[in-house]
Amino acid sequence: MDAPQTGAVTGRFDLADPARFADDGYLAELDRLREDDPVSRHPEADGPGFWVVTRHADVCQVYSNDSLFSSNRGMRLGGDPDAVRAVADRMLIVSDPPRHQRIRRLVGSAFTPRAMRALESSIRTVVGELMDTALESGSCEFVSTVARPLPTDLVCAYMGLPRADWRTVGELTTEGIDSEDEDDRFAANTELFLYFSRVIEQRRRQPGEDMISSMLAAADEAAGPEPFSDVDLVMNFVGILIGANETTRYTVAGGLVALTEHPAQWQALQRDAGLVDTAVDEILRWVAPAVHALRTVTSDTELHGHTLAAGDRVTVWTAAANRDPRVFEQPERFDLARTPNRQLSFGYGRHVCVGARLARMQIAAFVEELRTRVGAIELDGPVAWNPSNFTRGPIRLPVRLSAR
Ligand code: HEM
Repeated sequence: MDAPQTGAVTGRFDLADPARFADDGYLAELDRLREDDPVSRHPEADGPGFWVVTRHADVCQVYSNDSLFSSNRGMRLGGDPDAVRAVADRMLIVSDPPRHQRIRRLVGSAFTPRAMRALESSIRTVVGELMDTALESGSCEFVSTVARPLPTDLVCAYMGLPRADWRTVGELTTEGIDSEDEDDRFAANTELFLYFSRVIEQRRRQPGEDMISSMLAAADEAAGPEPFSDVDLVMNFVGILIGANETTRYTVAGGLVALTEHPAQWQALQRDAGLVDTAVDEILRWVAPAVHALRTVTSDTELHGHTLAAGDRVTVWTAAANRDPRVFEQPERFDLARTPNRQLSFGYGRHVCVGARLARMQIAAFVEELRTRVGAIELDGPVAWNPSNFTRGPIRLPVRLSAR
């Protein structure tokens, strides 16, 4: 959904232009804004402009006040307004209360601590097998070998989708949010919708022990006067896949890059199993794969002396908040022992990531497998980054891994 801008904003760093995110120059711009202009008005080549909020406390304030800052008119820059209208108050991430609570209860029923504990050994197995493949080949492209299949395989397995479909489902999910061409995005999303409609039909006939069957049962139980339609359900299955795939992939791959850039931290991690938990948060803080989120102001309000008018769009920038020196000591240091660590990579407030526990378990399993099995990690060519102001991380990561 990152539409290329037809006209560039001149005279300033254009945060709406995905191309500016191909390298890490955006971090310096976000640092500058956070320190000098924390609630900044950003012009737009093809629109009225939007607000840019960069301090940790202000980002939390926007995230927390969902009656003043609405999600149901879109939650990212560059979204297609027709596509947003089609899913508003039906797909969890693009909904406002009271509808949000109903959908969250339904989707949340698949991510309870109990359900997640039951997945623990599958997570270990999937991560272990992927790391074996990477280690066997010695030199590999880490995104396609490990980081991309990891979340896709897990969520597809949890959904009970046939193994033969996993790769295609993963590719369609990426294309549906990341393809530069709007028609391609539309085609990929349509294909995913049709695919899940067929899966729903099949699971109604033949329920199983999988996430889709249990969410269908939960939807029937919660029916009441406003039952969930199959279209609502399909939207949320696709929403779960979108939420899971890119973000987890970029966290794992971006974490590996950070470890190669900070060899002393990598050595400390190899020596000390006690660092795994804090390492998960520090990798999330550092990579900040969900770069911004968007809200729309519902009635005039003030923030840092600026009047935000009803209808204005407000963007909050995780990458800036995660490096706010008011909250993080020496934020420019990658420190796997950092504690406390109030990173905002999963968002905050009502829409805080419903899959956070699953994501943490995957990242922890990855860190654990890496530290116990891998001796040396070396970059084996240039790293390419996803040029996106929405989900960002390595898209090409050639590495040489040697067994411990
Ligand atoms: C490192 C991995 C992940 C990161 C960084 C991440 C980040 C986020 C963020 C920032 C939000 C809030 C967006 C907003 O407020 O507008 C969110 C919401 C959400 N995430 Fe994640 N996510 C991750 C993994 C996952 C996984 C594994 C799943 C599911 C399997 C998932 C599913 C969702 C869903 C369905 C929502 C919408 C929640 C709501 O609106 O109430 N995410 N995620």
